[in-house]
Amino acid sequence: MATRTLCIKTFGCQMNVYDSARMADVLAPLGYGLTDDPSDADMVILNTCHIREKASEKVFSELGRLRRMREDREARGAGRMILGVAGCVAQAEGDHILDRAPFVDLVLGPQAYHRLPEMVARLSRAGDAQIDTEFPAEPKFDHLPAPGARGPAAFLAIQEGCDRFCTFCVVPYTRGAEYSRPVTDILDEARALVARGTLEITLLGQNVNAYHGAGPDGATWSLGRLIRALADIDGLARLRYTTSHPRDVDDDLIAAHAEVPTLMPFLHLPLQSGADRVLKAMNRGHTLADFRRVVARLRDARPDLALSSDFIVGFPGETDREFQDTLDAVDDIGFIQAYSFKYSARPGTPAAALPAQVPEPVKAERLARLQDLLNAQQVAFNRRCEGLDMDVLLDRIGKHPGQLVGRSPFMQPVHVMAPAPLQGTIQRVRIDQGQPNSLAGRLLPAEDDHPPAERATA
Ligand code: 5AD
Ligand code: SF4
Repeated sequence: MATRTLCIKTFGCQMNVYDSARMADVLAPLGYGLTDDPSDADMVILNTCHIREKASEKVFSELGRLRRMREDREARGAGRMILGVAGCVAQAEGDHILDRAPFVDLVLGPQAYHRLPEMVARLSRAGDAQIDTEFPAEPKFDHLPAPGARGPAAFLAIQEGCDRFCTFCVVPYTRGAEYSRPVTDILDEARALVARGTLEITLLGQNVNAYHGAGPDGATWSLGRLIRALADIDGLARLRYTTSHPRDVDDDLIAAHAEVPTLMPFLHLPLQSGADRVLKAMNRGHTLADFRRVVARLRDARPDLALSSDFIVGFPGETDREFQDTLDAVDDIGFIQAYSFKYSARPGTPAAALPAQVPEPVKAERLARLQDLLNAQQVAFNRRCEGLDMDVLLDRIGKHPGQLVGRSPFMQPVHVMAPAPLQGTIQRVRIDQGQPNSLAGRLLPAEDDHPPAERATA
């Protein structure tokens, strides 16, 4: 039973969401139960993101707020609040965090969270701040307990780190070299999740399709093979994976999209730029034509496949013409959703030292234009979904009484009026309305008396 409260605030990517859940698993045996309210928590951990400067800076403003909360709580006589900084800012900044925020108790990198109990014990004995930003020889995954209940849709990390070294990116430095978990560990974790009610699993990795884990047969398994094995788990209705690199989409993975019906027809595949010179300067290792070829093959395998992507505008040296190439590529390929960012120089990455940094107003103007186009594509896709019937995983309670919210096969949020016991189930839904960021629909009767699924395509 929980005797203490733990609040974990998560910034950044889905891997951090997964890591936060794992930190909670690790701390549960010490009596820590989760709360959303930091003001009265015995321990608050910020799980941080270093990917862009803005994300990184948030940590310090948040720490300032937490410091005041801690003082208030201690003044009320409610006891000590342990303050921890985890994740990629902790990894990148290490003990420098204590220069700017000397009141922090724990600093731990993404490879250290299995050592949290030990750090907490040492903190209570010694009283001084504990820092752990080592990349241990043994992977952290070997030391984690079975996952707790995660709900209908859960993340499962299968791979961590990255060896690609895109010139703008901090990930190879904060998350380290690429590591793939053994197949058996992944299958065990997936079965444990399904046994606790999970219907949909998203396989996670910084470069997830570079997965090459040790199989039980002694062979090295690819992501495609792993997906086939996971698809055999009874009760696992849906599979996804993210984030992929276009260079690492192999034949086996493409075939899995054709053969595995539980693999959802939605793929996040970052393009970053539509200009070959920029792609080269980014060290992406592919051209726009290579990207198009991969997309064409994926769409041949799974004609209803819809794509999302990541883009960076204002990479050093990006010209107006090169930015136009990105707009043209987006226009032509079609994405149902995408993330786009202004280039942010990250200390220690090769691109940060390039001479021709693009001025801020130019970046801002390019970002606005790209986002207009991406938003228009998203709205158009959502509109095209009107009148279709879709399987929707109802995973959360809606804002309005009697409403549940779910996710479509294409990851759109879907609002439906539905009785509460249907939360955590997959239901057939007729889409009545496509809105800019979501869909609205109504439940169809359980008896399948309507024609088979029509599918929306991007
Ligand atoms: N500046 C801007 N965007 C970045 N990303 C990664 N590094 C940077 C950076 N330095 C974006 C990429 C990546 C996504 C997770 O974040 O588009 O795919
Ligand atoms: Fe970063 Fe992704 Fe490039 Fe790896 S592949 S360096 S995680 S952008």
